Amino acid sequence: MSTTVTTAPITVLANIQDPDDTKNVYYQSGGYRLSRPVLEGAQAKRTFDAIPTVDVSKIFSPDLEVRKAIAAEVGKVCEEVGFFYAANPPVSRDKMDAAMDMVKSFFRLPQEDLLKLHVDNSQGVKGYLPFAFRDGRRCRASYSFGRDYTNPEQHFVQKAPDGTVGLNQWPDETLPAFRTVLYEYYQDVFVFARQMLHIFSLALGLDETDLDDAFRFPLNDITMQYYPVQDPNEQSSIVPHADYGGFTLLYQDDIGGLEVLNANGVWVPAPPHDHAYVVNTGSYMEVLSNGRFPATVHRAFGNPRVDRFSLPFFYNPDPNVMIAPHPKLVKDGDETITPQDVSRRQIKGLMTNRPHHPFFAKLRALGLTDEELTFDLVTQPLATIEEKFGKK
Ligand SMILES: [Fe+2]
Repeated sequence: MSTTVTTAPITVLANIQDPDDTKNVYYQSGGYRLSRPVLEGAQAKRTFDAIPTVDVSKIFSPDLEVRKAIAAEVGKVCEEVGFFYAANPPVSRDKMDAAMDMVKSFFRLPQEDLLKLHVDNSQGVKGYLPFAFRDGRRCRASYSFGRDYTNPEQHFVQKAPDGTVGLNQWPDETLPAFRTVLYEYYQDVFVFARQMLHIFSLALGLDETDLDDAFRFPLNDITMQYYPVQDPNEQSSIVPHADYGGFTLLYQDDIGGLEVLNANGVWVPAPPHDHAYVVNTGSYMEVLSNGRFPATVHRAFGNPRVDRFSLPFFYNPDPNVMIAPHPKLVKDGDETITPQDVSRRQIKGLMTNRPHHPFFAKLRALGLTDEELTFDLVTQPLATIEEKFGKK
């Protein structure tokens, strides 16, 4: 797919598409504004025009051949599209419904209550991110919680050492059931994600657990999105982009608004399918797979009549891991993909996206070098960090 870097890096939500340029589609990748030509007629390539579906009801089958058959389908759609519907997922419909109801209740809380959970209060930038505005109009608000081993609900993965700083923030006073309902959902979707990793591994022709080491303590999170009613002529509420994580398990409400870019520069809708997940691979999976599973560009709109909500679960590698193509997938002379430092990218992303975040401002003020700024720091008290680097 041909792609052109057209401008300097962008770091904020912007009107990325040039409305006067109908010959190119613009999107964001790695902090740059890129474009892809719209190809029509004889110029058009063979590409997808719909999002395929894979039935994942048997992903926990005890029969390896059954799991391999699912993996074969997943491998094909990941190579050709990068997005698919996972139908009949191993997450209870009741839990999916309860979680989505809770998302809607959460965003209906008074702004003053939501602002008490502002991401700037969390060293890990977890919590409520108020509406982004474009041309004076609200386009999106979000709330995230994620890997935080001080939360007992995550002790099935790991328990944080004493003194670790908690990152997640909960509306315990205003919406007490939120934490319980969301964690019940999270625990199921986490198990689903772990098994999907095995399916991706089989899909690449690897042993089922070959990718596990990169995801031992995954930097996963749920970032729920609220898209208020949007004028149909407005641009996407999320800048068109390819995910930079491992992979995403998206549960969207029944409104729709997600679109995926094909090789001809055509936006293909990914409308909601009843209780199915939209699964897509991110840039770390692209690297692990040595380019076989690309991170595909997508965007999302609000609806012109009703509010829209979505509930993506991002499954990202362990921040202490360097992501490189799996050695079994690399042949001589085939080492073209640059390894990626998860911790470095994560902390750089946080500092770029939240330049005025109080915790990162303090880290910057300590004068720590890039090498010293690791993701592990975000779970340590500032006093400990100051002491560790002799800044006290
Ligand atoms: Fe995305």
